[in-house]
Amino acid sequence: MSQIGTTLTQFLTEQDNSPAESRGELTALLGDVATACKRLSHLVRMGELAGVLGAAGQENVQGEDQKKLDIIANEVFIDSMQRSGLLAGVASEEMDSHYPIPSQFKRGEYLLAFDPLDGSSNIDVNGSTGTIFSITRHAGKDAPSDADFLKSGREQVCAGYCLYSSASMLVLTTGQGVTGFTLDNSVGEFILSHPDITVPASTSEYAINASYSRHWLAPEKRYIDECNAGVDGPRMRNFNMRWAGSMVGDVHRILCRGGVFIYPLDARLKADGKEGKLRLLYEANPMGMLIEQAGGMAHTGTQPILDIEPYTLHQRVPVIMGSSEEVARLVEYHADNIND
Ligand code: AHG
Ligand code: MN
Ligand code: MN
Repeated sequence: MSQIGTTLTQFLTEQDNSPAESRGELTALLGDVATACKRLSHLVRMGELAGVLGAAGQENVQGEDQKKLDIIANEVFIDSMQRSGLLAGVASEEMDSHYPIPSQFKRGEYLLAFDPLDGSSNIDVNGSTGTIFSITRHAGKDAPSDADFLKSGREQVCAGYCLYSSASMLVLTTGQGVTGFTLDNSVGEFILSHPDITVPASTSEYAINASYSRHWLAPEKRYIDECNAGVDGPRMRNFNMRWAGSMVGDVHRILCRGGVFIYPLDARLKADGKEGKLRLLYEANPMGMLIEQAGGMAHTGTQPILDIEPYTLHQRVPVIMGSSEEVARLVEYHADNIND
């Protein structure tokens, strides 16, 4: 049984029950993920002193303005991962299509999808940000295509994030629960600090960007109105609201003390022809796996996020995740409004 103080490598080695021929692979791969996260944690902490703040002056494939740190984080991650010998290719929020591992490096049988820097709008204000990652298997040794990344969230062999905040924390799952590691900067190691993370089924805290309330569809309007009615309303208790502006920050809080995170499809996104804001393969799926592994629920309102069969690399989805009682309630409201 792993104890607080165990290093990430020791923990993963203890937990590894894969067949002899692949034993140690995920430990090595996650070791490289940890290295990338340490490099990014350092850059985020240096901030303006490292010249990483501000806009990059260009857009990504999704039409979003990129920050310098979005691009740097993408490069740092790829640089740290491409020599692992374990990856066949990498897909990222910041790249139009996937990046195949170049032929000068050994190619392996895993695929990595990641959001290099989540919560970009927090970079310049020294707010919390993070990196989200999802690992799946790639059958065979051929170079992958974009289509090889289109796997449902149930096929993830590992998912996690690194939160860059007052402490940097790596939180991950390999399908055996959720574990949190805190970066000890004095020795440069992620050390087990949060064993067996679970999300309480019940909560009185929600996270949604309320500035879009005029665009919300009926289920979200009803759910939030009822929460805000407090002790005098149908929920008969007061609710609190938090919105970090970074999914990593919000999901981390929910893993620590419960809550429900909602980024719904709304009339504004619909009018733009979008299916949601958050991206399935490198935001919703890895966070969904963490939340389910911690005993919570992750849903779009019409189906569990992890059941979605993706059709495109940068696919967007509505997201409702966290404490199961609240997610189930909002899903019920969606069932009552099947046109929304
Ligand atoms: P990213 O910075 O990777 O583009 O992701 C930002 C996401 C997510 O982290 C956050 O919950 C949400 O976008 C915030 O969006 P709004 O600014 O619309 O609230
Ligand atoms: Mn993001
Ligand atoms: Mn991002």
